[in-house]
Amino acid sequence: MQDNRVLSGMRPTGQLHLGHYHGVLKNWLELQNEYDSYFFVADWHAFTTHYSDKIDLEGNVMEMVVDWLAAGINPNTATIFVQSKVPEHAELHLLLSMTTPLSWLERVPSYKDQQLKLKTKDLGTYGFLGYPLLQSADILMYKASLVPVGEDQVAHIELTREVARRFNHIYGREVDFEEKAEAAIGKMGKKQAKLFRSLRKSYQETGDDEAMVKAQALLQEQQNITLGDRERLAGYIEGVGKIILPEPESLLTKASKMPGLDGQKMSKSYGNTISLRDSAEAIETKIKRMPTDPARIKLTDAGDPNKCPVWQLHQVYSDSQTCEWVVDGCTQAKMGCVECKQPVIEAAQAELAPMQERIAKYQADPELIKQIIHEGSEKAREVAVETMAEVRGSMGITY
Ligand code: TRP
Ligand code: SF4
Repeated sequence: MQDNRVLSGMRPTGQLHLGHYHGVLKNWLELQNEYDSYFFVADWHAFTTHYSDKIDLEGNVMEMVVDWLAAGINPNTATIFVQSKVPEHAELHLLLSMTTPLSWLERVPSYKDQQLKLKTKDLGTYGFLGYPLLQSADILMYKASLVPVGEDQVAHIELTREVARRFNHIYGREVDFEEKAEAAIGKMGKKQAKLFRSLRKSYQETGDDEAMVKAQALLQEQQNITLGDRERLAGYIEGVGKIILPEPESLLTKASKMPGLDGQKMSKSYGNTISLRDSAEAIETKIKRMPTDPARIKLTDAGDPNKCPVWQLHQVYSDSQTCEWVVDGCTQAKMGCVECKQPVIEAAQAELAPMQERIAKYQADPELIKQIIHEGSEKAREVAVETMAEVRGSMGITY
């Protein structure tokens, strides 16, 4: 397991909006400084629901990567890549499909939900049913410990854990597993080996989770053992066999506080977005048209900020003093909505202006974007090649 690795992906939806920025990208910006981060464009995933639509996939991929970079995702810190440039994802997806029961996929909530939601599309396809498994392959390939996702994706991470567990259970057995594990313990040094044995015993006999965590930490500290031995011993703690694909955990991203222009969740399909590329004038027009508390018909009608989407924007952008000014002015009918909107218009414009400068710079240099994608994908591919060698090896595909 790569203890320090984070992986997350986005479908190539094209230009991003403020909902993406406040909900996802700001979170990635923090993660990239703390973790070995892999962020990728899930371009194959687009076909699972849009296989018959004419979409400008290349344009969408490029625009999205430009927006990531402009938002501050740093290609020297994080690995930015595109799924289809690492075709090993397809091989792992195929191999995992052999051991994944159909019922596990049918049970994933998004399978039925999306079919109901996207009624005009025929989602009775093999690819759509299997898309959470493709996602499992995306994650397991990098042995990531953490996957930052929104609420709607947690079930997919849960599936990924089950898929990994089953794979390890079936293919993690080596003929001489026990001897190899014992030999690896022998390399740890007497004191450490003794501690490892007692922690393992305690976990196996009493199910003591703390002992498990300590034993795993002990393994991470070992300098003298190979990665293969470390994975073998991780499996040996539980006594099952070698862990080839470690189970990831989801890192739940808090729901974005950024509302759409109508107060619903900001989403392209609702037509309520402020794009990262909207001009200062467009931002002003959009916010000026936002609905407010319907009770405020005349300036003298008092309002309630809690019934107003503009107030939610103040929560994102305004300091406490400005927020007090809003509450007072609204509930006491001291100011009009136009005036109230002015600080959020300015804040959104100020937030996007530097990003748009960077967007313009990157857009003027598509070769640079292609190079960033190429280099990131090559780096990701090195990891993928290594994982696939282990996966094939464990399945006996070694000839
Ligand atoms: N399914 C995710 C979504 O629709 C995108 C995705 C694909 C992903 N593969 C992933 C997210 C792996 C996290 C990890 O948003
Ligand atoms: Fe909304 Fe501000 Fe108008 Fe109150 S004064 S209804 S918070 S826009």
